[in-house]
Amino acid sequence: MSDIITITAPVNIAVIKYWGKRDEELILPLNDSVSATLDTNVMCAKTSVCARPDINENEIWLNKIKESFNNKRLQNCLNEIKRIARVQKSVDEEFLSWNVRIYSENNFPTAAGLASSAAGYACLVTALAILYKIKTDISTLARLGSGSACRSVYGGFVRWHAGVKPDGSDSIASQIANSLHWPDMRVIILVVADTKKHTSSSKGMQCSVATSELLQYRVLHSVPKRVDDICTAIQKRDFAKFAEITMKDSNQFHAVCLDTYPPCVYMRDISHSIVEVIHRYNEICGEVKVAYTFDAGPNACLYLLEKDVPEIISLIKQVFPTSNPEFIKGLSTQESQDR
Ligand code: ADP
Ligand code: DP6
Repeated sequence: MSDIITITAPVNIAVIKYWGKRDEELILPLNDSVSATLDTNVMCAKTSVCARPDINENEIWLNKIKESFNNKRLQNCLNEIKRIARVQKSVDEEFLSWNVRIYSENNFPTAAGLASSAAGYACLVTALAILYKIKTDISTLARLGSGSACRSVYGGFVRWHAGVKPDGSDSIASQIANSLHWPDMRVIILVVADTKKHTSSSKGMQCSVATSELLQYRVLHSVPKRVDDICTAIQKRDFAKFAEITMKDSNQFHAVCLDTYPPCVYMRDISHSIVEVIHRYNEICGEVKVAYTFDAGPNACLYLLEKDVPEIISLIKQVFPTSNPEFIKGLSTQESQDR
């Protein structure tokens, strides 16, 4: 019987969104994306893994519920890790023949558009890589589980390069700046709904690739310049520019979702109210103090600087007084996980 390996991994929130694949099997994106990795103490996945001779079949438990292991992505991750272990001879054949038990919990809503798949797969492959004692690029393994997961392996600000090679060897994530680079950057998550979304990101982006003309425009004409500009804004700690690009990219991503046929509607009325409030607030301030971004769900992620946190929290409480106590999920700093 093996030791039990337990790992936590944080979520990352994209400021330039990944939406659309050039290869479904290898999970290769159509465009580069950029994100910030959040601190594990607010939103993270925690995963324990072990291998044992007395487990009849591979098992995965997610948030205390036993899920089917008949999940292609899960199997791809495990098979690839075992293949590497065989090549590296890091464990013996008997160990490789044992089944695994995976037990994972997220301390935030799963499948609600808050990047649970990113934290979940980053955590899972890191734990399995330790279990099988392999030395490899964890980010590439995480990508096999969920594209956005490859960014959660690094702290700070991260860019996932789409790459052009058919085998995906140049589709890798790299750190743009470590977590100490912009120490006063903060994130507030507004949990509008913690229910499972109707259309998963994987399904939604597949449908966008098949039907949205705007997606083609976005990939060719919008994202390349935005990625360059936001990387420069991050390097210079230029919050106004960072915020403007973040909000524009979120808006365009949701426009692509609406341009998809049938449309993917992820934002709700309250999400649109948040957008309006943020723009009005920035206008009244005469400077851009806070940015919103929405993943494939109704929940808002606000980027802002530490000095503005008290004012923004009191603004949110004033404008949405009847919101539930969990509405303001938490305040995250970035993880000091600078590999
Ligand atoms: P989200 O917006 O939360 O990322 P997705 O629909 O993209 O939602 O992904 C949700 C899926 O990710 C889950 O159904 C599950 O398959 C996988 N997932 C989420 N959390 C974990 C975890 N901790 N461990 C393993 N897989 C996970
Ligand atoms: C809107 O990484 O969940 O959050 O690769 O199919 O698992 P798969 O999709 P996933 O999509 C994330 C989409 C997004 C934007 C982003 O995180 O970049």
